[in-house]
Order: sequence, then structure tokens, then C-alpha cells
Amino acid sequence: MQLVRRISSNGIHYQSTSMTAPISAWERIVPVNLGSRSYDIVIKEGIISQAGSLLTSWLKPDTAKSQRVLLIADVAVFDVHGAAVQRSLELAGAEVRSAIVPSGEQTKSWAQTQTLYDHLVDMTADRKTLVVAVGGGVTGDLAGFVAATYARGLRFVQVPTTLLSMVDSSVGGKTGINHPRGKNLIGAFHQPLGVIIDLATLKTLPDREYRSGLAEVVKYGVILDEVFFSFLEQNIAGLDSRDPDVLRHVIARSCELKADVVRQDEYETTGLRAVLNYGHTFGHAFEALAGYGALLHGEAVSIGMICASRLAELLGRITPDDTRRQSDLLSALNLPIEVPSDLRNRPEDILRCMMLDKKTERGELRFVLPSRIGHVETVRGILPDIALRCL
Ligand SMILES: NC(=O)c1ccc[n+]([C@@H]2O[C@H](COP(=O)([O-])OP(=O)(O)OC[C@H]3O[C@@H](n4cnc5c(N)ncnc54)[C@H](O)[C@@H]3O)[C@@H](O)[C@H]2O)c1
Ligand SMILES: [Zn+2]
Repeated sequence: MQLVRRISSNGIHYQSTSMTAPISAWERIVPVNLGSRSYDIVIKEGIISQAGSLLTSWLKPDTAKSQRVLLIADVAVFDVHGAAVQRSLELAGAEVRSAIVPSGEQTKSWAQTQTLYDHLVDMTADRKTLVVAVGGGVTGDLAGFVAATYARGLRFVQVPTTLLSMVDSSVGGKTGINHPRGKNLIGAFHQPLGVIIDLATLKTLPDREYRSGLAEVVKYGVILDEVFFSFLEQNIAGLDSRDPDVLRHVIARSCELKADVVRQDEYETTGLRAVLNYGHTFGHAFEALAGYGALLHGEAVSIGMICASRLAELLGRITPDDTRRQSDLLSALNLPIEVPSDLRNRPEDILRCMMLDKKTERGELRFVLPSRIGHVETVRGILPDIALRCL
């Protein structure tokens, strides 16, 4: 197989197995530049069947032979996608043990972590053992946490299979599990060796989960890139039909934008990484109060972004037209933009949740607010009654 790499005018690397390959067979590679922890995100339709050779190229030559792998897969995707990754790894000479985990947020638990440690002990894993996660953000966060903590850190590869995990959770190295009293309370920063995004895995993703991921995609346009936001406005049909050419660009650009923020604030120390929380202060409150499963994360963020944009309008920071562009795009993508009526009648509960949010400091409400499409700022000291007027 001949790999051809070139660099386009905007710095993105394209790679193809042959110069005559049709455009849909092309890969996009997004480099995540973090010094010695740098890695590539490879995006291509059908690439999981080449996962084995890709991994071999990422591993040091001495460990590539007889590589041992713990493959951790969400039960909903193991048969359709996980088994293909396993086959490809085995064809490349790896010895693979598969651990299948249940679907859903409750899987990010201490009990599941323990079970996965048991698998690693059973296979006498050592520092050269590789952990491969196949699934959405739940599987990636859990498998990444296991990899980060076993034997002081195993190498780890993500194969995200939801749109949200492709554009968000697999980029940036945050791994973790939940404490019974709070989400993501136990975790570690652990960058992967690489991320393999196969657009074909999205074909089996339920519509609601897919659209929930689109909310995070829209978020990247609002916070960082007006040109990308316009691209989304102009490609509603392609997004609806999950057109691979549209998705390849949308996922690559989202990963690039997040990777650039992570590069500048890898460990969340400078405050820059906070821009990624646009729509999330309101969104987390709606998600928590709506009750389990009533609102998916992206749906809550979609409503949260419109609330935050209205708040920015009230503070004279943005024009009504910029809020309308966001609500038009989100509605066109079939995402909710209005606070559900049962939540609108619970302003005290919403306020209490927002006060508990990580972005609140010493009882002061802080919001990430847009000043135009493509730019946001963190605004402190917002009075509760003003925040609640946007509901
Ligand atoms: N680490 C980070 O930086 C980061 C960022 C954002 C979110 N997260 C975490 O990510 C998690 C949410 O991720 P998610 O939205 O991917 O949820 P998820 O992993 O629960 O996946 C959503 C649903 O889709 C199913 N599924 C996954 N891929 C599928 C496919 N290809 N076909 C059919 N069904 C499929 C899953 O079984 C599940 O039911 C949360 O736990 C959140 O805390 C982490
Ligand atoms: Zn989010």
C-alpha cells in the first residue's frame, strides 16, 4: 500500500492510498500538537478495516510485533464495528482480548473500571500493552481512564463511533469516570497514541444521538470560526443525509478547532479551554433537571447556547441577528432551541444548578458569551435575575 501525503494551503494533511483514489476514499489527518504527546486523528470512511496496519505504524518497531491489545467496546457496537477492529488487529499480528461494556453513562463507574483492571491482570499486561476503545464518549472516557491508571499508564487508541465522541470527547486527553455524587469527578489527563475515525460507523448511530453531536459542531462555529458556521448553514442537506464528504470536513474542522484550544491550554490552567463550555452552563442545568434521558447532552447544549446568546444580547454584547442565525441553524438541524415549559417554571432550580457548575467561582455566575459569530469571551459577575431573564 502506497501512502501519499501532501499539505494543502490551509495546512491540513491529505493522504491517499493511491493518487487515483476517488475523493471519497481520501483520508483527512488532523495533527494534535502537544510536544512529545502529539498524535494524529485519522478520518476516513472504512478505515477500521485498516486499524491494524495503522496501529503498527504508530507503535515503535520493537513493540509492533506480537503486540498485546485489550480492546474495550460498547456492547451496542461490538458486533458491527468492534469485531472489525479486532480482526484487523489480529491480521496485523496482534494478540487481542476483547472486553465488552454495557451502553450508557452508568458504565463510567468504579465497578467497570475494576472489571477492566481484572482483564489486564488476567492477560499479564505490561507497559507495552495497548488499550483500544471502540464506542462513544462513555467507552472512550472509561477505557482512557483505565489506560491512564493501570501500571502508571498504558498506551491508548480511540476509535470513536458517535459524532459527539469524534468531535469532542476523543480530542484533548480528558479521561474519567463518575462518582455516585457527581459526573466525571474521578479522572486523569492521558493523551492517546492516535484516534481512528471511521465515517462508516456513523451509519448505525441513532438519529437523536447524531443530532446531539451536531450541537457541539455548531458550537465550534460560534466560538471560533464564522467561515465554518457559514459552511454548516450552507450544508444542511448534506448534514441531514450524513454525506461523507460533508462529514469529513465537519469532523476534521471540529477536531482542528478543539485541538488548537487544547494545544494552548492542555491542562485547563489558563482559562482558554473554558471557551469550549459555550452553552454548557445553562445546558448542564437543563440536562440535570430534565431527568434521565429526557434531554440528550447536545440537545441541552443547543438550548443552552440560545440562552447564552440571548444573555449576550441583553448585555449589549451581540446583535439579535447573530442569535437568530444560531437558532435558525440549530432548528434546521432539528435541535431544540426553547427551554421546555416544565423547566422554565423552575428558575430557582436552574439557578441552583448553575451555581454548582464548575464554571462558577465563589458564588459568582460566569458565562462564556459570544460577541459575534466566531468569537466568545468569558464574562464574570452576571446577576442571577439577568441570567434568568433569558429563559
Ligand atoms: N473526555 C472528554 O473530553 C469529553 C467531552 C465530552 C463528553 N464526554 C463524555 O462523553 C460521554 C458522552 O458521549 P456519547 O454522546 O458518545 O455517549 P455514549 O458513549 O453513551 O453513546 C451514545 C449512545 O450511542 C450508542 N452508540 C455509540 N456508537 C454507536 C454507533 N456507531 N451505532 C449505534 N449506536 C452507537 C451507545 O451505545 C450509546 O447508547 C459522556 O460521558 C461525557 O461525559 C467526554
Ligand atoms: Zn458538551
